[in-house]
Amino acid sequence: MSTVVAPARHVRGRLRVPGDKSISHRYALLAALASGTSRLSNYSPGADCHSTLACLRGLGVSVTEDTGARGDGDIRDILIIGRGRDGLSSPSLPLDAGNSGSTMRMLSGVLAAQPFTAHVIGDASLSRRPMRRIIEPLGRMGCRIDSADGRPPLAIHGAALHGILHRAEVPSAQVKSAIMLAGIHASGTTTVVEPVQTRDHTEHALRAFGGSVQVEDGGTRVSVNGGQSLTARDLTVPGDFSSAAFWMVAAAAQPGSHVEIEDVGLNPSRTGLVDILRRFGARVEVDLTSGDIGGAGEPRGTITVEGDRIGRLDIAAEEVPGIIDELPAIAALAGHGAEVSVRGAAELRVKETDRIAALVAGLRGLGISADERPDGFVAGETGRSTAGAGEADARGDHRMAMAFAIAALAGPSPSRIIGADSVVISYPGFFETLGRLVA
Ligand code: S3P
Repeated sequence: MSTVVAPARHVRGRLRVPGDKSISHRYALLAALASGTSRLSNYSPGADCHSTLACLRGLGVSVTEDTGARGDGDIRDILIIGRGRDGLSSPSLPLDAGNSGSTMRMLSGVLAAQPFTAHVIGDASLSRRPMRRIIEPLGRMGCRIDSADGRPPLAIHGAALHGILHRAEVPSAQVKSAIMLAGIHASGTTTVVEPVQTRDHTEHALRAFGGSVQVEDGGTRVSVNGGQSLTARDLTVPGDFSSAAFWMVAAAAQPGSHVEIEDVGLNPSRTGLVDILRRFGARVEVDLTSGDIGGAGEPRGTITVEGDRIGRLDIAAEEVPGIIDELPAIAALAGHGAEVSVRGAAELRVKETDRIAALVAGLRGLGISADERPDGFVAGETGRSTAGAGEADARGDHRMAMAFAIAALAGPSPSRIIGADSVVISYPGFFETLGRLVA
């Protein structure tokens, strides 16, 4: 499906974004392992988080969707009846993670400790993504995982696990989380050491469900003890910062814009974009909501962005883990008279698509100059929007579709985004909200 995006001079409005994708996955997985019933409010409506729920159902977990008193079909809460640490059932069919790398990797950590074999499959995009990064450490913990030469489908032969020390070469919260989820059901202590801190939602979520985690060295060394039992919780997922990022960038790029995004997750391991936009001249205000609404130690609040001209953006390698999912949005600034230069982001090549190749091809399709680097890209020209009207192919990747839509706002006439329907992965209402903000 393709969508036409018309040029717009500015974006204006107050809005909320859907529940955070990363946090939703974690709450669902931990709720399934806990004793008792958890109510998860503002659970992500994206297809990825529904893949996690489908996999949990395949493991015998009761998952129901509560449409609330209004009964208008708008799902508000997910109810999960936890099976306790030993209660998952052997699945009769392969578990389908769909397009979701987070589902496949984190669920593998859970399955590694189960007394059965489970098969985990994914769509064509997920079937190309690297899984050795979890196969190797989970294997060292004692389980065996068969794969297609390091890629899905996976056959996970669960076993009694023992703790390990894992030193990750590539920073990855998905890998860290998979090992932690295996570690809470292993004997002894499991420790993950990373070169840079990655998002720490699993650490917060584990504590919220009554588990314990030791965090040292500025968050780069995380340990869990085995034999943990978790307890059900009622939690509210904050809005997804990575979805808010598209509106932040759109507003920052266009003088006269003003967006106010309420109840967004403001976990410091995710908000690198705020500093980057400020560093390059944008007016960004962040108001932390007082109190810990919904519990779980995840900060949240309101972000306000007012448009101004942004010059040259130079993103260094050490900044990348804190903005890994925001780099497509940042690339969209290239359409709006900013030069964007990114290094140290080779991980983009193994996301839902090769995001370096897809971004460069899509930006060029929109008339914006862009060149690949092995570990990043350079795009746009300072002070001059080179955006023409054109066509950009999202290659089935939700964040490509949204980035191209924001870049296309700068064009002289409408542009076509091919594969725009991929936004259902994380932000089903993206194009409706875009229509409202440019009106
Ligand atoms: C995620 C971590 C990141 C991110 C992905 C979600 C998570 O991946 O790109 O969209 O929920 O832990 P890596 O941990 O593989 O870098």
